[in-house]
Amino acid sequence: MAERPYVLLSCSMSIDGYLSGPTERRLLLSNDADFDRVDAVRAAHDAILVGATTIRYDNPRLLIRSQARRDERIARGLPPSPIKVTVTGGADLDAEAAFFTAGDAEKIIYCASGAVGVASAKLGKVATVVDAGHPVDLRRMTEDLYARGVRRLMVEGGGTMHTQFLTADLADELHLVVAPFFVGDSRGRRFVTDGRFPFNPERRATLAEVRQIGDVVLMRYALSPRFADC
Ligand SMILES: NC(=O)c1ccc[n+]([C@@H]2O[C@H](COP(=O)([O-])OP(=O)(O)OC[C@H]3O[C@@H](n4cnc5c(N)ncnc54)[C@H](OP(=O)(O)O)[C@@H]3O)[C@@H](O)[C@H]2O)c1
Repeated sequence: MAERPYVLLSCSMSIDGYLSGPTERRLLLSNDADFDRVDAVRAAHDAILVGATTIRYDNPRLLIRSQARRDERIARGLPPSPIKVTVTGGADLDAEAAFFTAGDAEKIIYCASGAVGVASAKLGKVATVVDAGHPVDLRRMTEDLYARGVRRLMVEGGGTMHTQFLTADLADELHLVVAPFFVGDSRGRRFVTDGRFPFNPERRATLAEVRQIGDVVLMRYALSPRFADC
């Protein structure tokens, strides 16, 4: 089997397991100290991935915020911010979204075969469009990222992406932050959707760390034997 990057899933959720509220409005689940922690984690990765819906709803920039961390990456011969990666089936993405316009980092779109023509026409000037099967095959995608030099991939959601990485057993580590409130509305997106997960009552994941960060709590789970190496 071809090699793939170390994959870290990063997610903040409410006490009742939601990533978002019932509307498209972005829900802030972290606090300033935790956003800074996430910035440090981002700085330690070669690429950051979000699903297409997260680009449409949240319009994330996905840049390293800290100048010191950007400088430190440059000193190591890296670009100031990691490569940005997304996945889409329909290529309904706006070339003016911050994902594409903010920062000089390379952007890669893994696109379902049927929409590659549309994606190339709309987004070919702002990103590299890769035909990645139908639907996009995540293992194939991670192997392609490895071939492009990505050794550490951070996945920042949404739930559709987390679900697929987990159920395909492609995740090595999970950072799960719990914010101190409830959403209480099933129209919100949950951390994961239904699926056959490699961790269940018979096979428990390894809890590697619990850390209080102000009013949120971070839980770090080791999901593969590769965890110890990093
Ligand atoms: N709290 C957090 O940490 C956090 C982080 C990120 C996002 N969020 C929230 O999560 C919500 C979005 O999550 P989500 O689960 O709805 O969406 P998502 O995971 O961001 O993106 C899902 C989309 O990605 C594309 N996609 C995913 N897998 C694919 C595959 N195998 N083949 C082809 N295309 C694929 C499809 O795009 P197309 O529709 O373009 O075909 C799909 O609709 C938003 O409300 C956002 O605010 C929260």
